Amino acid sequence: MTTYSKTRALMQRGIDFLGSETAILCGAMSWVSERNLVSAISNAGGFGVIACGAMDPELLDKEIAATRELTDRPFGVNLITMHPQLFELIEVCGKYGVGHVVLAGGIPPKGSVEAIKGHGAKVICFAPTLALAKKLLRSGADALVIEGMEAGGHIGPVSTSVLAQEMLPELADEHLIFVAGGIGRGHAIAGYLEMGAAGVQLGTRFACATESIAHPDFKKAFFRASARDAVASVQVDARLPVIPVRALKNKGTEEFTAKQREVAAVLDREEIAMAEAQLQIEHYWAGALRRAVIDGDVENGSLMAGQSVGMLKEEEPVASIIEKLMAQSEDALSRR
Ligand SMILES: Cc1cc2nc3c(=O)[nH]c(=O)nc-3n(C[C@H](O)[C@H](O)[C@H](O)COP(=O)(O)O)c2cc1C
Repeated sequence: MTTYSKTRALMQRGIDFLGSETAILCGAMSWVSERNLVSAISNAGGFGVIACGAMDPELLDKEIAATRELTDRPFGVNLITMHPQLFELIEVCGKYGVGHVVLAGGIPPKGSVEAIKGHGAKVICFAPTLALAKKLLRSGADALVIEGMEAGGHIGPVSTSVLAQEMLPELADEHLIFVAGGIGRGHAIAGYLEMGAAGVQLGTRFACATESIAHPDFKKAFFRASARDAVASVQVDARLPVIPVRALKNKGTEEFTAKQREVAAVLDREEIAMAEAQLQIEHYWAGALRRAVIDGDVENGSLMAGQSVGMLKEEEPVASIIEKLMAQSEDALSRR
């Protein structure tokens, strides 16, 4: 890879922390971020992250082992905090000496950060607000990802540009902050690095890379879509707080509204507790995403995608995407 000295200088803290050639992470994407894409990202100088999603410890064990076969570079594992076997999954990461564990989906439960660090691994958490960011850092998080609502998948209510302005000036001098959500070109990377970010995380841009196992019809839907097709799901019942998901509009989007009504009705009849209701919603998403990514059912499945989807026009190898992002960032910095 060309030197890209200005970009690399700004990324240096992130590079040292991740142990990769660039501080560009490919965010975990359920069903998409498996051995092939993760190893391709790390081999190309980025930092790949396995999406554990709903996998059980045995499956995660196999996935880490298989990824190791394909790369000798560092990669991470993303665990969902509400997974009922979270601590067993942490043990599996420890068994393989995974260097970085990303905790997604809410505040890490008591003891989880300590358990990860007990294995000598670094902990990366998502910080939705400045107050929470400070709390997570105090509780032992080694780095944070701040992710704006432009992103694909589960999202918060605030845009990346606002989160970056709120958090980077306060935190970036002393802490490692990675910025995610809506990044499609290297020019945006340059901007966030100049604001103090240690690196960036992208998902949508990598979902349709040549090495991604996503179904060809899933990829075609991405290439056809524009930014405005990637819409956030709406919450239909005030009593059932559902984390919004950004995905391409299709029949599945409407089915999700119906699913929420169904779960709310069961909740009404007091047949299930709130936590169980929310878990049912999450299982629904996992199933719907699988239908789209693996089976290619782009009508009824979930086409989780961020607004940067409009900038994707064709399948491209991961190495070429990373090279372009670095070149664009370098170009932007050189013009300053
Ligand atoms: C198809 C898809 C699936 C995703 N699944 C997960 C997931 O399982 N866990 C997670 O923490 N983030 C997930 N994300 C979010 C990504 O890791 C990443 O943070 C996000 O895509 C970055 O924003 P961008 O899409 O604008 O690049 C997913 C995103 C997409 C597009």
